Amino acid sequence: MTQFIEDRVVMRGSPSLLVGFHKGLNGTMTANVAGRPVAIVTGAARGIGRACVVALAEAGFQVVAHDREGEEERELLRALGAEVRVVQGDVADLGRHGEIVDAAIAAWGRLDCLVNNAGVGAMRRGDLLDVTPESFDRCMGVNTRGVFFLSQAAARRMLEQGGGGGQHRSIINITSSNAAAVSVSRGEYCVSKCASSMTTTLFAVRLAEAGIGVYEVRPGIIETDMTRPVKERYDALIAGGGVPMGRWGKPEDVAAVVRAMAEGKLPYTVGEAVTVDGGLTVPRF
Ligand code: NAI
Repeated sequence: MTQFIEDRVVMRGSPSLLVGFHKGLNGTMTANVAGRPVAIVTGAARGIGRACVVALAEAGFQVVAHDREGEEERELLRALGAEVRVVQGDVADLGRHGEIVDAAIAAWGRLDCLVNNAGVGAMRRGDLLDVTPESFDRCMGVNTRGVFFLSQAAARRMLEQGGGGGQHRSIINITSSNAAAVSVSRGEYCVSKCASSMTTTLFAVRLAEAGIGVYEVRPGIIETDMTRPVKERYDALIAGGGVPMGRWGKPEDVAAVVRAMAEGKLPYTVGEAVTVDGGLTVPRF
């Protein structure tokens, strides 16, 4: 059963759901013709996922925040004070995907956006020749299978719902610079993200006619718990000029791009991948 850790929290100072404008967290007014749009964000408890929840809530979305963790999500809810429902579970558990989509429908009766953000790294960085099947399968289970089949569940629901109301519908996959750039010390992660990139293109073409935008965001070196264990190495890389913009990426950098995609600001594009890496992977010589 879906576990609703907390019920929805009414956004501070928010006008009625049915009025034509929504007041975001930062107090700005966002046009919202057909009622507030609804998004699902996976891996929402922290890092990039959490920033996506905040950015989408600011844009007027009601959000189902999904994560395998629980406690931090409660904190997220309290901190946001936004219209967020929390669902706990493992995105690699395909049998639970229906529940994630149903949570959006049960709460708000629609689904307009899925952000496939939940992801895991290699269990241990090291020689490609030492990659274990266990670590390979874990990466594939979360980063590839989870993304593919949750996209499928969301796409079915969005197609059923139809395009009425004028709200842009989207599926946004957070992959990685490693969808294209090789890091030999975590081959299984690269493979899983590359496959997720293909998933983006496949769904983008399948859903283009229905007007559902499917996009990919490729973050570079972003300051989160995921990169904390290798912080010194990345500090040195950045100090040495490896990132032309000369700084770490922030979760909010990625979330700003996700928000633009969810709001339909990439018109007449199909399966577009936006790299958010401060120039890390720009070929140079
Ligand atoms: P993080 O490790 O800080 O947070 C990931 C969140 O996803 C956590 O809350 C975790 O509980 C959740 N999660 C992990 N596996 C899950 C599962 N099976 N089911 C449900 N929730 C799960 O990671 P971060 O840095 O925020 O990464 C988010 C996404 O961005 C990931 O897909 C990652 O691969 C990708 N990314 C991150 C980069 C970085 O430098 N931090 C660079 C490139 C891509």
